Amino acid sequence: MLLTPLCELLGIRHPIIQAPIWPGAAPELAAAVSEAGALGSVAAVFSSVERLTDHIARVRALTNRPFAVNHVVSFLDEAAFVATLEARPAVISLSQGDPGTLVARAHEAGIKVIHQVHTVRQGREAAARGVDAIIAQGMEAGGQGQAKGVGTMALVPQLVDAVGPIPVIAAGGIADGRGLAAAITLGAAGVNMGTRFLASFEADGAEEWKRAVLETESEDSIRFEEWEEIFPARPGIYPVSPRVLPSAFMAQWHGRPEDVRSEAIRLKQEILAVVREHRMDKLLPFGGQTAGLIKTLLPARQIVQDIVADAVSALARASAQSEA
Ligand SMILES: Cc1cc2nc3c(=O)[nH]c(=O)nc-3n(C[C@H](O)[C@H](O)[C@H](O)COP(=O)(O)O)c2cc1C
Repeated sequence: MLLTPLCELLGIRHPIIQAPIWPGAAPELAAAVSEAGALGSVAAVFSSVERLTDHIARVRALTNRPFAVNHVVSFLDEAAFVATLEARPAVISLSQGDPGTLVARAHEAGIKVIHQVHTVRQGREAAARGVDAIIAQGMEAGGQGQAKGVGTMALVPQLVDAVGPIPVIAAGGIADGRGLAAAITLGAAGVNMGTRFLASFEADGAEEWKRAVLETESEDSIRFEEWEEIFPARPGIYPVSPRVLPSAFMAQWHGRPEDVRSEAIRLKQEILAVVREHRMDKLLPFGGQTAGLIKTLLPARQIVQDIVADAVSALARASAQSEA
């Protein structure tokens, strides 16, 4: 067992969050993770109210343990947020922008709030908004993150110092028990993992996308910084772009910011078309540097169990070394 303040805060047995890996965050994945004693997440971004309430109901049919519903601030859908408040999950997680009044609205509904940040400044702002826990997402992370961002190893201890006693959760570059042990040692109260859970039986992703996680080396997981030419940052929204696995779209457009800028309107339509299909992987298969560390597709329950057991062993090994 590895009990941290995050476990106490959320009523979970293991300090692990399955990141809301849209569009891979199937209700079956969230439920399996929560049933295993960690915190599963449902992804609300680009969901209709009907789809989101269906996903929440499907999680509830499979588990009565706590789970999170994630909303992306930069693409916030007010109706879907209201539906989430009405559904009252244990946790709402937020990302990619100033959480603003969303925090107080969640608290009024009796829901805890976890917010994901990329810098110490964003962490301080989120703390001032009253969030219950903060995810420190380093630049290794799959999906949207800060271009030229700070690595997890440097970011986590700084955020722990800046926002303590608010629990800090490490994200990016973590896919096994050694990563969880390292995060705890840096002062984090848990981890938020996306790419590892994408390579699970329950994740809702095309076979080629999951296979790409198993076959891609870390150095080939690359940030598509040209994203910001297509979706420019707005006030209150964090400047993010996605870290992705190799694809034909990446081969064509990565490293050509001027061409992306001049084709931005057409590329935006292309991206929004795959977003509507819930098939972002056709163009930009989100995935982080941990792809190099992940070699097998596993059931979500086993991912949680192995990581906890391996973290306990890693911490014991480290402790034995310090005594020697
Ligand atoms: C496929 C994929 C989709 C993601 N979708 C979301 C999302 O909808 N909302 C969000 O807050 N974060 C999202 N993330 C980022 C995660 O919250 C998390 O920070 C990241 O996965 C951690 O890094 P890792 O992938 O190396 O574990 C996504 C990540 C991936 C890989």
